[in-house]
Amino acid sequence: MNKMSTLVVVGSQWGDEGKGKITDLLSEEADIIVRYQGGCNAGHTVVKGDKQFIFHLIPSGILHKGVKCLIGNGVVIDPEALLQEIENLKKKNIEIDDNLFIDFKAHVVLPYHKTLDEIKEVKRGKDKIGTTKRGIGPAYVDKIARTGIRMIDLIDEKFLAKKLENNLNEKDTIFEKLYGLKIPNQEKKDILKKYREYGQLLKRYVTDVSLYLNKAINEDKKILFEGAQGTLLDVDHGTFPYVTSSNPIAGGACIGTGVGPTKIDKVMGITKAYTTRVGRGPFPTEMQGELEEYTRQKGGEFGATTGRPRRCGWFDAVLVKYAVRINGMDNMALTKVDVLSDFDKVKICISYKYNKEIIEEFPVNLEILQNCIPVYEEIEGWKGDISQITQYGDLPQQLKDYINRIEELVKTKVVIVSVGPKRSQTIIREKIFK
Ligand code: GDP
Ligand code: IMO
Ligand code: MG
Repeated sequence: MNKMSTLVVVGSQWGDEGKGKITDLLSEEADIIVRYQGGCNAGHTVVKGDKQFIFHLIPSGILHKGVKCLIGNGVVIDPEALLQEIENLKKKNIEIDDNLFIDFKAHVVLPYHKTLDEIKEVKRGKDKIGTTKRGIGPAYVDKIARTGIRMIDLIDEKFLAKKLENNLNEKDTIFEKLYGLKIPNQEKKDILKKYREYGQLLKRYVTDVSLYLNKAINEDKKILFEGAQGTLLDVDHGTFPYVTSSNPIAGGACIGTGVGPTKIDKVMGITKAYTTRVGRGPFPTEMQGELEEYTRQKGGEFGATTGRPRRCGWFDAVLVKYAVRINGMDNMALTKVDVLSDFDKVKICISYKYNKEIIEEFPVNLEILQNCIPVYEEIEGWKGDISQITQYGDLPQQLKDYINRIEELVKTKVVIVSVGPKRSQTIIREKIFK
């Protein structure tokens, strides 16, 4: 049996596939969980017993005693949001202080990033992206522009003052020239004071995540890289410009943690049994009207971060096949199959039609994607409550046919079937960590 100790968990669609649930589940066997990109735009839900937790920056393994939770350099950190998350968890008696580590090199989200995120969305008018308004895009802009403030800067009081002053002055000019806004001097002083405090509060968690992880790899520790968002929200490979500003795909795990590609053993795609999307942008298999509303209500499809209703659609095999390719996916966890129970027929999109031409590969051109018509295959639905089934063999035959067809179309094995939000509502077909 091949050794398997590093696994990347990645969203196969437009996010909210159930990465939180699966990460929490796999944390039972893992030693370390590390987030590698995104920020508090993510909302990862974990249900433990009758309690629900939503993680935004803290890895979804934190509920497991002894599991170390790391935030890699690729993540953008809103200190206010992170401190709030830490406080909320501490109130619930979750042990944080010895289990959380944040990389020195991770960039910091500042108030002006959030303001810019909001202003830019308003300015885009009907072309707005529908961001989470958490300042994610503008924070990554500053990182790439090499003006961003990192955790190492945040915890160094003197350096922070100098850097923040420069940044505030630069942003002030931008705000004034482009948007007619001014950052009052008092506000600048308040920001500096607040962020100095945040730095001091977070200092204890800051470390060299790359070093930590590579040492752990040498000791054969089991490590799970927890992707946020999803493949189609990737800034390079997603439905640009309707994407987030980071690389959620598996390749992002290396860049966002300082672990080399030769050290990654496997990639698992977390794949929803249908498709959802929050925010704007093309969505070929989107349902309409009552059917969409029914699916949304049944699946509880409302944003874990913003509460926005999620757009719902049928399973898109063209899109998931693309995600398999872009991520080099080894296997999949298929989630929320219970939501599709009691439909008379379920549909799978097997190709797209564009100007009478059949397209089988996910189009790079947004104009094509926006105007293509999905070609569906219909599969007999299954009836009844499947949410307590724990053995694959006990699932209704029609659901097994649905899963088989998905596996065949995207050429990837479904190793986990999730039939409900709880840990116990999971069918494991193959051991994950070997
Ligand atoms: P993430 O962002 O990928 O972690 O996903 P979210 O947490 O944003 O959204 C997934 C939602 O579906 C959450 O409310 C989960 O509790 C829930 N969920 C996860 N797996 C299942 C499942 O198999 N069945 C049902 N009915 N709900 C699920
Ligand atoms: P998790 O990790 C679903 C979407 C936003 C918007 C676009 C850009 O819970 O799956 P941003 O604020 O990142 O600049 O917004 O990306 N988006 C998500 N959609 N799940 C997420 O995270 C998302 N994070 C961002 O709705 O369309
Ligand atoms: Mg989510």
